[in-house]
Amino acid sequence: MAEAMSPMVERTVPRVLMCAPTFFEVSYVINPWMTHHVHDTTPERSGHQWDALRETVAQHADVVLQPPAESLPDMTFAANAGLVFRNTFVPSRFRFAERRDEEAHDRAWFVRHGFDIVDLPGGVFFEGAGDALFDRGASRRLWMGHGHRSDREAAPALAQMLGVEVLPLQLTDPRFYHLDTCFCPLAGGYTVYFPSAFDEASLGVIETYVSPDKRIAVEEADALAFACNAVNLGKIVILNRASADLRLRLENAGFVVIEVALDEFMKSGGAAKCLTLRLDEL
Ligand code: ARG
Repeated sequence: MAEAMSPMVERTVPRVLMCAPTFFEVSYVINPWMTHHVHDTTPERSGHQWDALRETVAQHADVVLQPPAESLPDMTFAANAGLVFRNTFVPSRFRFAERRDEEAHDRAWFVRHGFDIVDLPGGVFFEGAGDALFDRGASRRLWMGHGHRSDREAAPALAQMLGVEVLPLQLTDPRFYHLDTCFCPLAGGYTVYFPSAFDEASLGVIETYVSPDKRIAVEEADALAFACNAVNLGKIVILNRASADLRLRLENAGFVVIEVALDEFMKSGGAAKCLTLRLDEL
């Protein structure tokens, strides 16, 4: 109805890719979260938690589903498929052999859905939207984490391939091995982050580009509860858990915080943001 009355108004419902946790489990260890959780998840719990996340995201976005593949337990972490920018898809090149067979599935899916595939130079590791996050303020800059999974060399390559400014950030704490575990750009240029996960120089970069009133630094307890691993859809912030203090700060900045328990996925080192990939990055 509204659309028919104002045909010039662009449709702005975000599109989010998710991949069901049908084959999710912790069967190998490639980050510290997984160490004590091998064979410690159940399909029932992960299925319920993922369904709750999908239903919550679907209230604020169009959810697109990628079919999961057997023997690829981490494929449910859709953020790691690659990086989307407009109609371009830059496929991930995983550091660990355990995840490399995901690459062919992801490439095929994005080819099938009409994306232009642009590959990074050979030998450069890059784990997609797990380590590359677009600023959600006025700028189109891309924040890129390196030091654990992605190589720093991916930053200049992405800048050249996509024609965007890329700011590399050095990650230093093995528990926060992907940028999206400790850093989250929000609408309006607000940025949630865990300072201790970065080296000094990178903190300096964050402080240069994000003004003090837009910085939402979290304490370790929030970081360990994956509060930085949030899905931001306009005013909505979906995350595993936020302390009362963090919730208040987000609300004061105009956000609506929705908690969805995702502890089953935290055993593998991921939560809300890791389980999603924005398909509309304009
Ligand atoms: N077990 C997965 C890994 O270590 C978790 C990936 C989480 N994804 C993310 N975007 N942080 O690769």
